[in-house]
Amino acid sequence: MSGPGTPPQRVETRFGVTADAHLVGRAGPENRAHVERFTEAMRTWRPDFVIDLGDILYHCGEPREEHIQELRRHWALYCSAGCAAYAVLGNHDADWLRQCSEAGPGPSWQAYHEATGMPGRFYSFDVGRLHVIVLDGNTPRPPSAGASPDGHQGAFWLDELQMEWLAGDLRAHRGRPKILFCHQELHYTPPEGSGEGGQVPFPQIGCASSHVDNGWEARRLLAADGEVIACFAGHKHHPRWVVYGGVHYITLAATHRAGSYSQVTLSDSLRIEGFGEQPSCDLPLPA
Ligand SMILES: [Fe+2]
Repeated sequence: MSGPGTPPQRVETRFGVTADAHLVGRAGPENRAHVERFTEAMRTWRPDFVIDLGDILYHCGEPREEHIQELRRHWALYCSAGCAAYAVLGNHDADWLRQCSEAGPGPSWQAYHEATGMPGRFYSFDVGRLHVIVLDGNTPRPPSAGASPDGHQGAFWLDELQMEWLAGDLRAHRGRPKILFCHQELHYTPPEGSGEGGQVPFPQIGCASSHVDNGWEARRLLAADGEVIACFAGHKHHPRWVVYGGVHYITLAATHRAGSYSQVTLSDSLRIEGFGEQPSCDLPLPA
């Protein structure tokens, strides 16, 4: 119970993160070896949970039963980390899901759901006091969308259903510290940076349209919440960091490159211990 003179409750949470592991489809056996080393490290480090930021499937083409079998096999490996395991949908995962014969509106769900046990294409969960939100950034930007205030058109979109759910989920967890995960970045950031913190010059990596075009709307919700610490993304394969509205937006290095992964400790700061091509850092929590 908090009260006058009582220090604010702190969150003590640790999690391991991979991104863009590229395990099924156009993928080499060394990619699985990277994840094997990750899960081995997690069994020693013993985090509260592990999470993969998407693109487990990679350029699979026509969906085949062997993809499902492979997905099951690789997800069993993630689950061998010895703690709760979560998955975020990447654009390559979603491309594959949309091609499945049982596809309904949006990504086809059943085969992926049965292989990974994920509760939805977007969802949230609690780890002690920490509230964790997972987004699906894979909807294509609708052609009718207006210009983004970010100044550069993104290829991806957070659909209306999801944006309403996000607003409601944040509202339902007011006063709780939060972190988010989305495969794609929720921002386009020019070389001069956001003006609010993070890397300057901001590294320009790959295709400039590979972000969520209406990510600025989500960022506005996260800033207004006042308790969101960070939003993690993958997809770009190279690491970078920027701040918007007091929230850290952290893009992680791809696991298929040099076995990169992160051990994240959320305590009186946000500490990222990076492996492979992922640099380490220690970031302050929002004021
Ligand atoms: Fe991706």
